[in-house]
Amino acid sequence: MRSIVRYVAVLRCVLVIVIVGAVCTLPQIAFAKPDFVAVFAKAYPLKGGGKISTAGCALCHAGGPPKLNPYGKDIQTALNTAHKRTLDGDILKAVESKDSDGDGAPNEGEIKSDTLPGVADSKPAGTPASTAAPKTAEAAPNPFALESFVKPKHGNHPVLVHFPIALFLIGFLFDVIGIKKRQPVLLTAGYYNLLVAAISSLPTIATGLLAWQWQFGGAPLESFLLYHLICGIVTSLLLFTLLGMRRKAQANPESGLSAGYWVLAALTL
Ligand code: HEC
Repeated sequence: MRSIVRYVAVLRCVLVIVIVGAVCTLPQIAFAKPDFVAVFAKAYPLKGGGKISTAGCALCHAGGPPKLNPYGKDIQTALNTAHKRTLDGDILKAVESKDSDGDGAPNEGEIKSDTLPGVADSKPAGTPASTAAPKTAEAAPNPFALESFVKPKHGNHPVLVHFPIALFLIGFLFDVIGIKKRQPVLLTAGYYNLLVAAISSLPTIATGLLAWQWQFGGAPLESFLLYHLICGIVTSLLLFTLLGMRRKAQANPESGLSAGYWVLAALTL
């Protein structure tokens, strides 16, 4: 009876941690997307109802976000070069002299005459025909081609990241059901899920660190990527700590898993 009371208390504790975590994260997600349209409108006096002001997201995106048109791509390159995450006037200035869409009219001129700097068909009247081939938004790669399979667009880190998460969650579920239904075999399943979760967190961290070096040149991280890095490493440490506690508990099975184990597991969750 006492152990049931204890587990109910621990489950309540889990619930509180999950709710507090969700409440703390939601506002960050809601405000994470910088308003690039507003930054642009502040930098340039736009004609109300004109081509650019009615384009909205299509000023930089083609076929719907997050796919970028050539102008958006140039902005993205300028952001990466400046190691910035949010758009500002300096970034917009940096791409003014470029002719992103290759239609013969530089971006600055296009914006002044209210034509789209990322769409080759849209250019100021009287622009001489460009000799260069116009650039269009990149075609979506064929997802069934062998190359797309070997070279996924976003690398393998975002794929690997799901393994420790899913394995830990399912293992935790097995543990909770195993305790409730008094089924030791489910606790064993929980243990092996935790084991593979901990091991799979290592290549996940390794590919994440490599992506940081290769994609951002190891530039100092801020905001989400920084939280992501810290939370990733802390989660891996927690997984290995839980694994160590589990192995110790296996040495003397009659004592079971301690309340400390459950609190730590809740924190990891
Ligand atoms: C002035 C150009 C510009 C405008 C206008 C713009 N975007 Fe973007 N957007 C970008 C760039 C550049 C990126 C890539 C940012 C990066 O790689 O860091 C991006 C990325 C995104 C992404 C990918 C995820 C992310 O947060 O990085 C989404 C989704 C997105 N934009 C949605 C929108 C929507 C919706 C609108 C219209 C309300 C919009 N964008 C308007 C330039 C723009």
